Amino acid sequence: MASKIILLPGDGIGPEIIAPTLELLDAVGTSFDYEEHRFGGASIDAHGTALTDETLAACQAADAVLLAAVGGPKWDTTDPAKPRPEQGLLGLRKGLGLYANLRPVRPLPALYDASPLKREVIEGTDLLVVRELTGGIYFGEKTRTRDSASDVCAYNREEIERIARVAFRAARRKVTSVDKANVIETSRLWREVVRELHAAEFPQVTLEHILVDNAAMQLVSNPSDFDVIVTENMFGDILSDEAATLTGSIGMLPSASLGEPGKPGLFEPVHGSAPDIAGAGIANPLAMFLSAALMLRHGLGLEAEAAAIESAVDRALAQGLRTRDLGGDANTRAATQAVLSNL
Ligand code: IPM
Ligand code: MG
Repeated sequence: MASKIILLPGDGIGPEIIAPTLELLDAVGTSFDYEEHRFGGASIDAHGTALTDETLAACQAADAVLLAAVGGPKWDTTDPAKPRPEQGLLGLRKGLGLYANLRPVRPLPALYDASPLKREVIEGTDLLVVRELTGGIYFGEKTRTRDSASDVCAYNREEIERIARVAFRAARRKVTSVDKANVIETSRLWREVVRELHAAEFPQVTLEHILVDNAAMQLVSNPSDFDVIVTENMFGDILSDEAATLTGSIGMLPSASLGEPGKPGLFEPVHGSAPDIAGAGIANPLAMFLSAALMLRHGLGLEAEAAAIESAVDRALAQGLRTRDLGGDANTRAATQAVLSNL
């Protein structure tokens, strides 16, 4: 039976980058049972909530979830009583138990000159951000009165161990654990647990601990020094955007969010819904294509097909494909065609 994939095009450029991704998946010879659901702002408009119980249940029962992007000015609000598109994303992460967010950052040689960093600084960079995704300040208890507010940041040993294990397993050279152990209590626990796990299970991997402010600095001054970065939810959110810009465009970065083995993962680009260019047919679909490749690899065990997509993207870029965010003028159609012709 064909694997069941839930498609969540979401908002903004979402629908226009999901459609060519399905073309690419067909072209690579895979055939899935797709089921599309409204999500984010689109779901708020239709159902009053960013993630319906029905959509969550469909995702839980699927083999993988492919998401494009959510959000837009239409739904921006600071009113805690109003629904927000991002709640859909957070609900899905929690509801699917997606505690491990993998964001590989591998600037292609063809794009070195698109990077905001000097070529000699960016050269050789190939890192993976492993972000804890279902704990910390994102999911701690929140309070709000008119004049005060609080967000609790909490972690327990088990949550830290399981994400650190993902990082150690992914490491080729070393793991850099990022925290703020000079100030924050959860960071002190984080550091202790990572250190103990390392000694007990992964002594062959080099482990370093650095503070998050220092990590932000090292990412732009010495990015090629990193292999795997493991960190808590909020630090990971910030550092992964920073790491993403090293590639020259956030439009290039895919991500995988994984839970327990055998459970469906969620695959999505790191970029947002780009409401300013929605509907114009000019969005860069490459991060979406690469997210589909991560789905094939991590979600469905189709390594050869994943590698085929990745190398087709690499070759299209090497041949000069540049979308607008990369300083060129290729639109979504042209970018799709360029990748398809390199499969
Ligand atoms: C991300 C996004 C989300 C996050 C938002 C949209 C809730 O920035 O996936 O990095 O903060 O996790
Ligand atoms: Mg983010």
